[in-house]
Amino acid sequence: MLKLENIEVILGKNNKERKILNKLNFDVKDGEFALIVGENGAGKSTLFDAISGSIQVNSGKIWLSGQDITHTLQKHRAKLVSKVMQDPKLGTMENMTILENMAFAFKRGQIRGGEFFSSKHRIRTFKEKLSMLNIGLEDKIQELVSNLSGGQRQALSILMAILKESKILLLDEITAALDPASTDSVMELTNQILREKKLTCIMITHNLSQAIKYGDSLWFLKNGVFIKKYDKETKSKMTLAELSSKFEEV
Ligand SMILES: Nc1ncnc2c1ncn2[C@@H]1O[C@H](COP(=O)(O)OP(=O)(O)O)[C@@H](O)[C@H]1O
Ligand SMILES: [Mg+2]
Repeated sequence: MLKLENIEVILGKNNKERKILNKLNFDVKDGEFALIVGENGAGKSTLFDAISGSIQVNSGKIWLSGQDITHTLQKHRAKLVSKVMQDPKLGTMENMTILENMAFAFKRGQIRGGEFFSSKHRIRTFKEKLSMLNIGLEDKIQELVSNLSGGQRQALSILMAILKESKILLLDEITAALDPASTDSVMELTNQILREKKLTCIMITHNLSQAIKYGDSLWFLKNGVFIKKYDKETKSKMTLAELSSKFEEV
């Protein structure tokens, strides 16, 4: 379980300081898929930075699996938190092959260093993982990532993010840079992987149709604080027009 209590984050220097997260409370249970929506500048990505430890909070507490991680350094939190961002180029290295990317992601997650299994076994394992995506990447492992489409790269980014075990997966507008068809397939794939592996995940999205269709909870962020939360049952009965009007009235 992830729990944030009264989180305050102030960014900017000297007299340009602004409170970006304002006594924010939030919680996600193990295995839950939580979705966050909110207008541009609401503080969504800042919230992820606070969870991953890339910024320090000014006050409040962050708990993960019963452990107080409020002041845990980012490099130590990396074992606990994985993140995929909007730009598929950030999640993968384009001048490396799919295999090299996977090996890199795998090594990064190794807890016991050293014993990297044999290359034959490694290729077989990576192919098995890639076949989970169901988009044929397992037959292209020697191909450079720069030859893949945005959707394929984003699917690979997600797979790489979950290669190492972590307590929570953060997805920040992962389909925002994709065309509509890739958006749908990456979203389906993401949902399927989360459910199959019972991962705990928080996803930020600007796409209200996704917010209705996917996830166990839906949170509205405004001016650095959550102002509404819908459970799965309530939100999945809403039409897009209804959810849009709720979104506009807040
Ligand atoms: N390093 C920073 N210094 C000052 N202000 C920042 C910094 N990073 C983000 N902000 C501001 O914080 C607000 C929230 O940003 P962000 O969390 O990226 O919003 P969102 O992801 O919801 O669009 C924005 O107004 C942004 O300009
Ligand atoms: Mg953002």
